[in-house]
Amino acid sequence: MGEASLRHKLFYGVLGGLISSRRYRQSLADFVNSLDLKDNSRILDVGCGIGTVSFALHRKLPYSSILAFDKFRSQIKRATRYQRIYCLDRIDFYVGDIDTFPQLVSLDKKIWAKAESYDYIFASGVLEHVDLDKTIAKFSKYLKEDGKFIDIGIKEALAGKLIKGPMDFKIHSEEDILRAYILAGLDSTEKITLEDKRLERFRIAITGKKSKVT
Ligand SMILES: C[S@@+](CC[C@H](N)C(=O)[O-])C[C@H]1O[C@@H](n2cnc3c(N)ncnc32)[C@H](O)[C@@H]1O
Repeated sequence: MGEASLRHKLFYGVLGGLISSRRYRQSLADFVNSLDLKDNSRILDVGCGIGTVSFALHRKLPYSSILAFDKFRSQIKRATRYQRIYCLDRIDFYVGDIDTFPQLVSLDKKIWAKAESYDYIFASGVLEHVDLDKTIAKFSKYLKEDGKFIDIGIKEALAGKLIKGPMDFKIHSEEDILRAYILAGLDSTEKITLEDKRLERFRIAITGKKSKVT
């Protein structure tokens, strides 16, 4: 694990420019800034890539702590390089797989891997790569009561389909995402408007809340 397949390398080679572009980073940061989030929180960024969402959260919530992980070492290497450059020290970046989480979390961070320990879990552009129902159900267990899961997915529109191209990932419909939230016991689901029109063309944001710990 940790090494990208040729297909993945090609995909992120092509998409990499877009994902790391200043425009894309700013759009995601604007989205994060538009959210009503409380500071002093514990946040998990699942499939964090080069850390775009985590960096925006770090800037918005100066007293919060963030754990971010991605399957590919190359992504985490880039994320930690940016972290050093911009001195954003409240993010712990790890190489880790959604399917095996929390296995790769080191012992001293074990508290992070406990059930009901996160206020917010972000999944940006990653649920398309994994089993939607299983992943949302798995990670909702790590949410505290009133904690929120925030999916910033790829839209089922033409723009989203163009991004997908020949790639082996599944674009989920709004209905599928809402159903996965309900199955996972998350409620107060909400579709959030992406103010940035360019981002809105190919992304969709939906949140769900864990009202009750069972
Ligand atoms: C489109 S990128 C999004 C990155 C970042 N969240 C963002 O919004 O800029 C999707 C990321 O998910 C990661 N990924 C795919 N499958 C994964 C898995 N099973 N576990 C962890 N990360 C995964 C990829 O390596 C990639 O960095």
